[in-house]
Order: sequence, then structure tokens, then C-alpha cells
Amino acid sequence: MPGCSNKATKADSQSSTAVPTRSVIMLLAASLTTAVIVELMLYYRSESWGNSNNATTEFIARSPTYAIFSKSESEDHLVHVKTLLHKFGYKRVDIDSDWNLLWAHDYPYANFISLKSLSANQLVNHFPGCGYLTNKVDLSTNTKRLTFLPQAFRLPEQSELFLQYARSFPDKLFVQKHNEHRGIKIKAFRDVELNMSDSFVQEFLQNPFLVDGYKFDIGVYVVITSVNPLRAYIYTGDVLFRYCPKKYHPFDAEDINKYIVGDDYLPTWEVPSLRKYYTNFGASMRDAFEAYVRDQSMDPAGIWLQVEHILRTTIQEKEKDIFDTFRSYKTHNFFELMRFDFFIDANLNVYLMEANMSPNLSSAHFKSNSILYNQVLYSVFSLVGIRPVSSHDYTNFMSAEVNDITDDKNLATGLNKCAKYKCDKSCNQENCNLCLPCLSGSDYEIIKKAHREHLHRADMKRIFPKEIANYRDFNFTSETKNMTRKNAWMTQWYAYKCEYDRTWCS
Ligand SMILES: *[C@@H]1O[C@H](CO)[C@@H](O)[C@H](O)[C@H]1NC(C)=O
Ligand SMILES: *[C@@H]1O[C@H](CO)[C@@H](O)[C@H](O)[C@H]1NC(C)=O
Ligand SMILES: *[C@@H]1O[C@H](CO)[C@@H](O)[C@H](O)[C@H]1NC(C)=O
Ligand SMILES: *[C@@H]1O[C@H](CO)[C@@H](O)[C@H](O)[C@H]1NC(C)=O
Ligand SMILES: *[C@@H]1O[C@H](CO)[C@@H](O)[C@H](O)[C@H]1NC(C)=O
Repeated sequence: MPGCSNKATKADSQSSTAVPTRSVIMLLAASLTTAVIVELMLYYRSESWGNSNNATTEFIARSPTYAIFSKSESEDHLVHVKTLLHKFGYKRVDIDSDWNLLWAHDYPYANFISLKSLSANQLVNHFPGCGYLTNKVDLSTNTKRLTFLPQAFRLPEQSELFLQYARSFPDKLFVQKHNEHRGIKIKAFRDVELNMSDSFVQEFLQNPFLVDGYKFDIGVYVVITSVNPLRAYIYTGDVLFRYCPKKYHPFDAEDINKYIVGDDYLPTWEVPSLRKYYTNFGASMRDAFEAYVRDQSMDPAGIWLQVEHILRTTIQEKEKDIFDTFRSYKTHNFFELMRFDFFIDANLNVYLMEANMSPNLSSAHFKSNSILYNQVLYSVFSLVGIRPVSSHDYTNFMSAEVNDITDDKNLATGLNKCAKYKCDKSCNQENCNLCLPCLSGSDYEIIKKAHREHLHRADMKRIFPKEIANYRDFNFTSETKNMTRKNAWMTQWYAYKCEYDRTWCS
């Protein structure tokens, strides 16, 4: 349950009125800049290449830099981020000076107008408009009715609808949630404060899957590296499982420790049936849980298929809103690390509860979680191009990165079709849109970035474009039927790569 998530930041939805659709030229210009790849390393190369004797001094003089934006006094929740960046050779600078990476805990775009025109070697850990996903009210009530979201009503606007619903289903229980408040408790529908603004009331799901009698939630780390076309990944190394401190039965709505996960949740290693897997056999939180599910003669595999489906559907649903928010930005050097929280019912059906824009990565309370947080960060950094800069790696790594890792021949696909439709002579047809001679500069950069992500994805799994389970059965027309043109195009590129090499299928 969302009770323990860090405060969701208010969405961008109000502050950023959608930019009126401008001419196609504007759009092209915007996507051209999207494509500028933030290979921070390249920056050093262009600045200091050419005199290898001075490489070390040059390198020290030009350490990559990062800045932090956080409204809270304490930076305890950013310890792992800072430690890993320092290990990688990044130096902290003030937010007003020249940084390569801005790590914002709070939504930065309302405060810093300069983010509208980032330079090519700057990167920010949020998309403008990410609030469409992480604003609780917006996600729960403004999303097309999807079966994996519990029934919810936005207050005060939908209070009449809510009352009707509550009267029709007198056995249902509800929780009222607010964007800024963490306090959540089951309420009789008469006690719901119908005129509280920025809040919503959500149906409380009453049949949780229990482990040794404890209700729990799961947190999946998700990274979006591109919007239009969309590319999203999940961290597969582990999943955060948090159990309620008290057994669910006998149920008592007055005792939130039975059904809300708070800061003092019960960790995996204190749940008796999981302890043997986690402690004695070294399992991850996810593996320990799965072993328990199999002990109940149930199959946990479907859970992860549902999780991926929910993420794909939800992110795709909000993609246009996010893109509309940031298309006026000069460069699109953004990525987004989120934690999506899910509920699992007794039949192993998965429901989406919320998305957290700045997941709390503090291991202050549970030291064992530091491994998870470090591994998540390591994979995310690798994926988005934040890599260690050591004087030893410097020359070797650089030359490999620049000259060898991504070459035209790695990007070229669909050769038979390109030849058949003579795309080297004219690009005037859809069939040519992935042929190398027909790629616009921005499309070329998009594919190059996708290629680099794939090679540096560490423990991240691509979930959009979707995995191709079996290339022979892959039907491009039906798979891309509901997609934007740009997403279909990106999907086709991965499908071509997958045809030749299975590692590209997912
Ligand atoms: C993050 O989690 C820690 C440990 O559970 C907690 O003490 C801290 O208040 C949280 N920080 C934020 C910003 O939510
Ligand atoms: C390289 O280092 C030498 C001393 O080791 C120094 O005299 C020279 O100016 C440096 N060159 C550059 C381009 O910094
Ligand atoms: C909300 O409505 C109740 C009556 O339903 C009223 O007593 C209360 O003053 C209202 N609160 C606000 C903040 O408008
Ligand atoms: C692919 O899907 C489309 C639409 O769903 C269908 O019309 C077509 O027959 C399918 N093609 C193959 C080869 O199955
Ligand atoms: C496309 O959308 C329709 C209706 O919204 C849905 O039934 C269908 O499953 C979707 N197809 C894919 C491939 O997602």
C-alpha cells in the first residue's frame, strides 16, 4: 500500500498547459534534439583527446559533475546515489554551476527555467510531465478505466458518482488518499471527506494474498529512457517486498498495521516461511516469495507477466501527455527512475496501486536493502550512460566506446526490404523508414541510443517495445495496431534485430 512511499510530488499537469500543436517543422526540430545522445563520456573525449601523456591530469581537471535538487534538509535518502557517483568519479557541484547530471529528488522543472535548454552533455533524472504517471490522483482517476486499477473517484468532482457506487456495493470498503498526505485509513463511506481537494477515494481490495498471514506490497523499479518513441525497462535483479507488521486476520479497519505498509514494515527476513529461503539459501526477496508461492502449489510466473503488461499499458497511456509537456524543451536528455507499487490478491491477480517519482533509496532503516538500492542504481546508471571514469579505463574504454561499440552496421536492418523497394534511390515510402540511407539525423540518433542502451542494460529488462517471444509468430501488423507511428517504427527495428540474434528479442 502507498502508506510508506515517499511523498508523491505534485504533477506537472496543472503548471504545464499543453503546448499548442505547432508546425511539423517544430516537431522535427524537437525530435532532432531528443536524439542528442548523452554519452557523457564523449564530452571528455572531445575536450581532452589528443594528448595521451596528459590524459590523467586532463581527466582530473575535467571530472564529470553532478548536482542535487532536494527540498528536504537531510540528504539521507540520497546517500547511495552520491556514494555511487563519487565512486564513478563524479564531483558534486552547486546546482547553479556546470553540471553533467542533475539528480532531482523533487520535481525540478517548476523551479529551474534553465532546464528548458540543456546542453548536449547534461542529463536530468526526470521527464517534464512525469507527474502524469506519479500523481496519485491523476493516475488513479484520469486513466482510461483499466481492470488492474482499483475503482477510484476524484474528489470533490466525482463525489456523486462515488456515493452512487458506494450505495450499490454496501460491502465495499474505501480509502481516501491525498497527493500530499500519507495518512491512509479505511473509512466508512459516510466518513469520506467529499470536499477535500486534490484527493480521491479508492476501493480497498479485500482479498490479499497473504504470506504467513501477512499482507504485503511489491515495488518494481522502472526506468523510462525515451518518450516518442517509448523505451522502458524494469530492474530484474530483485523486487522490493514489504510486509505489514501485523497479521491481516482477524481484520480490523481501526488497526492500520494490519493492512498498510509503513516505514516500519516487516522485511522478508522476518517472515518465518521466507526466512529459510532468504537467510539460509541466500535467495532474493522475489525468489523467497516465489518459493513460498510454489509451496502453496501455485505458480508465481503469471505475476511478472501481469506486472509487465500493466506497466506497458499504463506508460503507453500517459506517453502523449508526457510528450506534450516536454516537446517545447530544447534538448530531451531525460530519464525517469520510478518505483511502481502493486497489490496481489489471493488468486495472484495483480493491481497497480501507485507510481513513485523519487523512490526512497534510503537503507537507514533496513541495512540489507543497501545492496538492492546500489544494484538498482548501478544498472540504471549504466543504462543511461553514467559510467565509471577511472584514469585506468579512460583511454581503453573511451576508444572502444567511441569507435567500436556502435557502428552503422549495427544499426542497419531490414536489408531485403530496403533493396526490394530501392530505398537507396528514393525514400518516399513507408517501407524505407528503417533503411540506413533514409534515416533522418534524429532517427539515426534514436536508434544509436537504443543500441547503446541494449549493450549497457546490466540487470534491466526491456519491457517496451515488448519482448518477442518467438520471432516466427511475430505479426507486426497486429502487434503494432494500437501504437503510435514512432512506437511501431521502434518496435520494427527491435524485431529486425531479433530476427538475427535472440538477445535482441527482449
Ligand atoms: C526514506 O526511508 C527512510 C528509512 O525507511 C526514512 O527514515 C526516511 O524518512 C525516508 N525519506 C523520505 C524522504 O521519505
Ligand atoms: C601536459 O603536461 C605538461 C607537464 O607534464 C605541461 O607542460 C603541458 O602544458 C601539458 N599540456 C597540456 C595540453 O595541458
Ligand atoms: C465540507 O463539507 C462539510 C459538509 O458536508 C462542511 O461542514 C465543511 O465545512 C466543508 N469543508 C470545506 C473545507 O469546505
Ligand atoms: C497479422 O495480423 C493481422 C491483423 O491482426 C491479420 O489480418 C493478418 O492475417 C495476420 N498475418 C499473419 C501472417 O498471420
Ligand atoms: C488494441 O486495443 C484493443 C481495444 O482497445 C484491444 O482489444 C487489443 O487487445 C489491443 N491490441 C494490442 C496488441 O494491444
